[in-house]
Amino acid sequence: MNPLLFSATQHAEAMELLARFSQRYLDTVADRPVHPSIDRPALRALMAEPMPRQGQPLQALFEELERVVVPNSTHTAHPRFLPYVQPSPNALSPYADHVAAVINQNCNLWHLSPAANAVEQAVLRWFADLFGLPATAAGIITSGGSMANLVALTAARDHALGERARIDGLQGGSAPLVLYTSEEAHSSIDKAVSMLGLGTRHLRHIPTDDALRMRLDVLAQTVAADRAAGLRPFCVVGSAGTVTTGAIDPLAELAAFCRAQKLWLHIDGAYGALTALSDRFMDTMSAIGLADSVSLDPHKFLFCAFEAGCVLVSDREQLRHAFHAQPSYLATSEDPDFIDFANHGPQLSRAFKALKVWWSLKHFGADAYARTIDRMHDLAAYMGRRIAARRGFELLAPVTFNCVCFRLSERDDDANRRALKSLVASGDAFLGPALVKGRAGLRACFMNLRTTEADVDFILDRLQAMGDA
Ligand SMILES: Cc1ncc(COP(=O)(O)O)c(C=O)c1O
Repeated sequence: MNPLLFSATQHAEAMELLARFSQRYLDTVADRPVHPSIDRPALRALMAEPMPRQGQPLQALFEELERVVVPNSTHTAHPRFLPYVQPSPNALSPYADHVAAVINQNCNLWHLSPAANAVEQAVLRWFADLFGLPATAAGIITSGGSMANLVALTAARDHALGERARIDGLQGGSAPLVLYTSEEAHSSIDKAVSMLGLGTRHLRHIPTDDALRMRLDVLAQTVAADRAAGLRPFCVVGSAGTVTTGAIDPLAELAAFCRAQKLWLHIDGAYGALTALSDRFMDTMSAIGLADSVSLDPHKFLFCAFEAGCVLVSDREQLRHAFHAQPSYLATSEDPDFIDFANHGPQLSRAFKALKVWWSLKHFGADAYARTIDRMHDLAAYMGRRIAARRGFELLAPVTFNCVCFRLSERDDDANRRALKSLVASGDAFLGPALVKGRAGLRACFMNLRTTEADVDFILDRLQAMGDA
């Protein structure tokens, strides 16, 4: 037998080691420091280790995992891990990833992965239907929201450049393309703009109102000024949940504006679009159905383990226009039932990430998600109320989503930054930094399936003690 394969006994041993490790890890995660006190000598030794010529037994690998890797890991499933838009994964995701790796489908060309192709199409259709996107919509499961935004903005750019987009690129000699987003938009938009060669100076960051939503009046003035200056406005990026405060731009109004102005509307819904699964957010999010493209992240509000993002485009031809390629060695026969996902994005080889998305929804059901999404927002509202009621704390932004931006009100910005640093260093809780309208503070984002009200109180007590010290 090839040395890279396992016998039945080795398989059984591997499964047992895996099961024991997973159970023990998840049972004890809440007792560990959220953020490790890093054992640098151990990690330096790991980095310096030469490539082994001979293999080690499986048992030794798991021992090293427990001895070096786990104690030096950030425990994102810990109930007081709340810094970013980063959930603790649902219980099924790791199993789905395991199965996906066992059958190892290459989700690039349909004939290399027919059933996986159907699964990916099914989840894409569920998402498209959730927002009422037209029947012409299509998409692809991506590594995350950043990649989804890049794919969408590539399609938008190539749509604006027209027929010869792939040939002339930006060298076609016409006036610069300009796009618009809010000053609260995620940095992946800036990154995509720079990777696409559009130049970040052609990305206008429109100011926001008191609720941190893009100001349409300023958007309209800026587009008009750019047109008057001979530039070519082509796209607006709205946010369905801005990364810092969870603000939702006025999506329906943006859609109407973009339609009137013939601008591509992309909605970055990596953070918030999937809250449409809850009745609380459905109405607000339904305007996503009016967009030309939307990003959404199953590794956020579907609580899938990393990685699983998604992009949908209302007209599938726009994706093909941007990404279609058919070198002779990949020649396939197109089939009306299937999609060559290699033509919907930049990747060729692609893992079967759609499996965990499909299974998560099939196993838990959309109603369980609706309840969980509501619970995350209830926790944020609880924290907001506790902060409003406490001496020495102040909210930096209204709590309208599942995150809370706040500060120690009697301390300056630097003291707030120090308080965050000490809290994280203590290993008791992990919050993130917040900068809202120029004021620094802390941020708790509720996406953790184990967090309770008692954790919120614990965190505020710890911070209060620091503020009083
Ligand atoms: C609004 C928004 N867009 C994009 C992203 C990037 O998503 P990812 O980390 O999946 O690449 C995030 C991440 O938090 C986000 O909140």
